[in-house]
Amino acid sequence: MDSQNKIKKLIELREKARMGGGEKRINSQHAKGKMTARERIEILLDEGSFEEFDMFVTHRTDDFGLKDKKFLSDGVVTGHGTIDGRVVYVFAQDFTVFGGSLSETFAQKICKVMDQALKVGAPVIGINDSGGARIQEGVRSLAGYSEIFERNILASGVIPQISAIFGPCAGGAVYSPALTDFIIMSENSSYMFVTGPKVTRKVTGEDISTEDLGGARVHSTKSGVAQFVVEDEEEGLLMIRKLLSFLPQNNLEDPPVTECDDPIDRLEDDLNILIPENPNQAYNVRDVIYKIVDYEEFLEVHANYARNIVVGFAKMGGASVGIVANQPNFLAGVLDINASRKAARFVRFCDAFNIPIVTLVDVPGFLPGSSQEYGGIIVHGAKLMFAYGEATVPKVTITLRKSYGGAHCVMSSKQLKGDINYAWPSAEIAVMGPEGAIEVLEGRKIAEIEDEEERAEYVAKRENEYRDKFANPYEAARYGYLDDVIEPRNTRFRVIRALRTLATKKDPGPMKKHTNIPL
Ligand code: HXC
Repeated sequence: MDSQNKIKKLIELREKARMGGGEKRINSQHAKGKMTARERIEILLDEGSFEEFDMFVTHRTDDFGLKDKKFLSDGVVTGHGTIDGRVVYVFAQDFTVFGGSLSETFAQKICKVMDQALKVGAPVIGINDSGGARIQEGVRSLAGYSEIFERNILASGVIPQISAIFGPCAGGAVYSPALTDFIIMSENSSYMFVTGPKVTRKVTGEDISTEDLGGARVHSTKSGVAQFVVEDEEEGLLMIRKLLSFLPQNNLEDPPVTECDDPIDRLEDDLNILIPENPNQAYNVRDVIYKIVDYEEFLEVHANYARNIVVGFAKMGGASVGIVANQPNFLAGVLDINASRKAARFVRFCDAFNIPIVTLVDVPGFLPGSSQEYGGIIVHGAKLMFAYGEATVPKVTITLRKSYGGAHCVMSSKQLKGDINYAWPSAEIAVMGPEGAIEVLEGRKIAEIEDEEERAEYVAKRENEYRDKFANPYEAARYGYLDDVIEPRNTRFRVIRALRTLATKKDPGPMKKHTNIPL
């Protein structure tokens, strides 16, 4: 074969690889409203930046008629490219080849990009759309999954790992995305479950649809498995690009700093009148977040799960921050099991990747009741306390209003290594709210007052006395538990200045193998 023909052959082979499982299967993929693996990568990465690996890989199985059924790339497209000019590694499962099912060689391809990403210190993005273990390969497929899981674990806390779920993801295959930092699911076309509807029906008798068992809505609202839900794949791919704009390439780097024309000393007079006069009246804490971050841009994580706490990324003065805020608009901003788990995971992610944490506090306490106690609120609440207490990134806390009891301690209090703790004049910091406190302290005496009017008057008087004494920031400020009481409209400036002062913070802590976070 002369050199021209050799080149022609290369071009033909590349063309063949790009056709995946063939035109018919590509059409069928499109008919389901889904893109092919390469189309997805094209949208995800900067134009023309994709370098593909292992295009000529095929499986090595002869059983079950597979000897003559080989497709170049073997069902997964892998390689690297750039997002906003920064290197990322990517693998995209190709449903048009054996339903994207995972063979030994398929796993090796994924492991290769993960190994390189770890060496280089660059994020890994996995796009999942697969029928699971390649049935014809048996245990070799299972071993392949385990090889990937082990790399997910090794890479955890070293490079950001992001999973998009754009099709089936079932059985043990769900555990690779679960080991990564963020899961994005597309509505109506993706699902994740350990056991599907058929087996569920057989084993438990429960009759449930695929969507209701493991669809995007379920995982973004009930289970909390997915941090993001998107209407279509393109939105999901653009969301990944946005998410990465807040993150460093790896745990040894700082997040990218962007140019910021939004004045850091912008005064927000609206914040001075945001807190309602009535302490039991709700407001939307997102209104505070939007006012203090650059350009009112906030990428909320887990927006529809545990809505009593809001977490997400923003820039302040051009630098990335992770924001954690109690949400008075939902369940009065109380801390419960799900809110604790959601915020704890977010705080730990930020700490692992050098993203300072800004905490906005308005929390009436932990949610009481048997369902919370039986569900282990003690352990789950401890997760959030642990996450804050071990985090060594700069932490700036602003108490907007309520900060009561154990929840006060948990929410980045001074003694849990809060670096700078501010409060608005509307802050109320105490062991519990006035109503509960007076009931505990004087319940017997109150019961003895026979006249109803007299009793109500007495209770109101004592509650007011309590409120005057404790429901303000000055008692905590007197002990130095707060560094300052600030005017709400100055919050953006005060937080940015605090963060800039803390930029060189070092807090190595004692040597240990690893912590024993209450899981
Ligand atoms: C080999 C598979 C496959 C698999 C699908 N295909 N799943 N090939 N191994 N696991 C092939 C089909 O034979 C078909 O090939 C093509 O992919 C498309 O599949 P369809 O069934 O036509 O597609 P669709 O109707 O959209 O259904 C998709 C599906 C279904 C729901 C994913 O294919 C399915 O139920 N597959 C089996 C899923 C499963 O049980 N997997 C094992 C789970 S256990 P042709 O040639 O016709 O295009 C597991 C353990 C992991 O994964 C453990 C990790 C620790």
